[in-house]
Amino acid sequence: MIKKAILPVAGLGTRFLPASKSIPKEMVTVVDRPAIEYVVREAVAAGIEQIILVTHSSKASIENYFDRNFELETTLEQKNKTDLLKEITEILPAGVSVISVRQPQPLGLGHAVLCAKAVIGDDDFAVLLPDVLVKDQDPENDLARMIQRYAQSRASQIMVEAVPEHLVDQYGIVEVAASPEEGESIVMQGIVEKPAVGTAPSNLSVVGRYILPAKIMQLLEQTPRGAGNEIQLTDAIAMLQQTEAVEAYRMKGQTFDCGSKLGYLKAVLHYGIDHPKLGSEFKALIQELAL
Ligand code: G1P
Repeated sequence: MIKKAILPVAGLGTRFLPASKSIPKEMVTVVDRPAIEYVVREAVAAGIEQIILVTHSSKASIENYFDRNFELETTLEQKNKTDLLKEITEILPAGVSVISVRQPQPLGLGHAVLCAKAVIGDDDFAVLLPDVLVKDQDPENDLARMIQRYAQSRASQIMVEAVPEHLVDQYGIVEVAASPEEGESIVMQGIVEKPAVGTAPSNLSVVGRYILPAKIMQLLEQTPRGAGNEIQLTDAIAMLQQTEAVEAYRMKGQTFDCGSKLGYLKAVLHYGIDHPKLGSEFKALIQELAL
């Protein structure tokens, strides 16, 4: 039922400089593929068929990555490199398309989502923030569970995880009567963007995965600038929550903030040891270095 996903990729990645100076931060490699591929895979695994990139002129390499490359494919074919050929042609599974729209000015996450309004039309949709990689423990991923829950309750789903109290000012934070179990959703009473430490309504932070109704676009059009003088998606969700139930979904998987250097290194370690071909040797290497 939820078939469209917005991936805002227009940000310049200042937290990841110098690596992100001349390549998009989303194209920085995690093991053997760009970070953005993990996010697209997560969306596709949850049943998404249309990926909408909200992008910037400096980020054409993301679109190129999800396009076919005839010259490369022909060369690999001529050289009989069938495994590699298969790998590069299967980056995007059949039936999944990528569309891009531009965010002409850096006016915030809410504004980025609003830039996709014409492509969304009347369809409800997912939003995935590509800085955060979500590594799932179960074959059925958290996003798929949020979509199922949305189908049952018709309440928007906001993925959350617990963070230490001193970090609440880096995230959207939800207000709930009680913390839901992992893998469960609960109606939330409020949501606030980057509250000062000591003022947050809980320690449940917004991870960057949302299932939202098409009508949030109208609310985004009315959303004034908020935290950081930007149009915040969190503020539009707070408005939505005044008129209908919005639920916080507590994730089961593990997050890696690839927008930060340490989070990125952590992701490389975790995805590296789970890699089907490199995993065991990589693990041995880590053990060797740890001695
Ligand atoms: C954005 C959202 C915030 C969320 C965070 C997750 O903030 O506005 O609510 O908690 O992503 O990474 P940003 O990190 O873009 O400042």
